[in-house]
Amino acid sequence: MSNQKTIPQEIKKAWENKKGPVVFTTVSADSEPNSIYATCVSLYQENSIIVANNYFDKTIKNIEAGSLGSILFITGDDKAYQIKGSIEHVTNGAAYDNMKSWNPERLPGVGAAIIAIEEIYCGAEKLL
Ligand SMILES: Cc1cc2nc3c(=O)[nH]c(=O)nc-3n(C[C@H](O)[C@H](O)[C@H](O)COP(=O)(O)O)c2cc1C
Repeated sequence: MSNQKTIPQEIKKAWENKKGPVVFTTVSADSEPNSIYATCVSLYQENSIIVANNYFDKTIKNIEAGSLGSILFITGDDKAYQIKGSIEHVTNGAAYDNMKSWNPERLPGVGAAIIAIEEIYCGAEKLL
């Protein structure tokens, strides 16, 4: 998977209307899936999602091992969207500074996981 895309307007609206934490899934080098809840998330530059690394443990190991990732969220009107893509974890630079600007100060915010938007699904339907 590689081919980063701009989020379509319709899905941007769905993202703005999401309810509850998102589910962020990675996979280990030996294919063990790992899902976490994340509330400290933001759309970044229209083509990525940032998840603040406040407490990543298995998640950071998986990212460092080269995992792809998925972000699953549900809207106020119960439509589920899944965004998939490659992940980069940064501890300085523009994306890190962006994360620091909205991540609550009381949380560690040790890094920013940047999930490139490469595929988007709504249920089984592939939108992008
Ligand atoms: C509702 C909820 C929201 C959470 N949001 C975040 C978050 O935004 N960032 C983060 O690093 N951990 C967050 N966590 C903690 C992770 O879900 C998870 O416990 C942590 O990454 C360690 O799990 P791991 O070993 O699978 O990485 C949240 C937990 C809950 C229950």
